[in-house]
Amino acid sequence: MSHHLPFMSEGARLHHNPFEIITQSLVMQAVLEKADRLKGHNTNVLIEGESGTGKELLARYLYEIEKNKQRPFIAINCASVPETLIESELFGHERGSFTGADKRKSGKFELAHGGDIFLDEIDSLNPRMQAKLLRVIQEKEFYRVGGNTPLKLRFRVIVATNKCLAAEVKKGNFREDLLYRLKVITFTMPPLRERTGDLAILADYFFKKHGGERRKSLSRPALKFLQAYSWPGNIRELENLIQALCILVEGAVVEIRHLTDKIIDNNNPDQTFNYDQPDHKKTTEIKRVMTLKSFVESLEVEYITKIVRMHSGNVTEAARVLGISRSTAYGKLNRANLDCQE
Ligand SMILES: Nc1ncnc2c1ncn2[C@@H]1O[C@H](COP(=O)(O)OP(=O)(O)OP(=O)(O)O)[C@@H](O)[C@H]1O
Ligand SMILES: [Mg+2]
Repeated sequence: MSHHLPFMSEGARLHHNPFEIITQSLVMQAVLEKADRLKGHNTNVLIEGESGTGKELLARYLYEIEKNKQRPFIAINCASVPETLIESELFGHERGSFTGADKRKSGKFELAHGGDIFLDEIDSLNPRMQAKLLRVIQEKEFYRVGGNTPLKLRFRVIVATNKCLAAEVKKGNFREDLLYRLKVITFTMPPLRERTGDLAILADYFFKKHGGERRKSLSRPALKFLQAYSWPGNIRELENLIQALCILVEGAVVEIRHLTDKIIDNNNPDQTFNYDQPDHKKTTEIKRVMTLKSFVESLEVEYITKIVRMHSGNVTEAARVLGISRSTAYGKLNRANLDCQE
């Protein structure tokens, strides 16, 4: 069961809705239930989480559930605007207020009047803008750059960051008083590796989105293989992988052997399967659904794959290091694939 947005009618083509949040994991259900409770309360919201976990998606969800067509949703990525322009981007400017300001321009806050302003990568705001933002949030009033008429506005501020703002405060990079203003309600998006139960439905959703009529699926070992992976790029990384598989894999079923080199190619070499930091939750989850034999086999497959990865995809070299023959290595990887054709 996936959590469907309340505004969507039954039978709608879910994959065409960019705000569809696909999940069946309890942690994400809790996030969405909390989000639903915010409806109608104009409280500021802080969304923290690793890259690609769906922070922007959640911000848009918060906006969508308000179901008010007149309500604006204005998004700005603070990291993508040069420091010299950010003030005028956020608060607008009067004509002639600086070189190049040849007409009056409304800022994002002005455009967000009566609705939401989404400030992404809020941690990248410089101290001067942090001070200004604090004042604006407190007083709900500001001036355009070069202006002397105060603008009194109503808006909800939703901010997102992939840093831990409390840690940024400790390091002296972020104002503590601003953090307190922002985090009236805080969401922490769980990383994909902590909700591996979502992998199957997310993969399915992305196969549907990118695969057209010739829709592919994952073999069971392939799914387990992906569930054991650490996903540093989270859901965005999964979507990219599935998109590549739709193009590159010939048949209808994606097997482990199709994944090993993709995971090798696509990722930061420092990120690897987590043998050194066993993830207790994940292990119990796997144990629940597998016999001991298939559990051991899946560990074997993971370990072989890890070593193959360390050798840039060279199975012969990996087999030598592992003390098995090349054909045994292939055999184990392939046997895992055969299991799934039951
Ligand atoms: N639960 C989900 N269901 C479907 N798609 C999702 C889900 N979560 C994230 N996505 C998709 O994954 C991609 C990344 O999500 P999003 O941009 O919201 O992440 P983010 O946390 O803002 O990432 P970043 O920190 O890199 O900006 C988007 O294309 C989004 O639609
Ligand atoms: Mg984002």
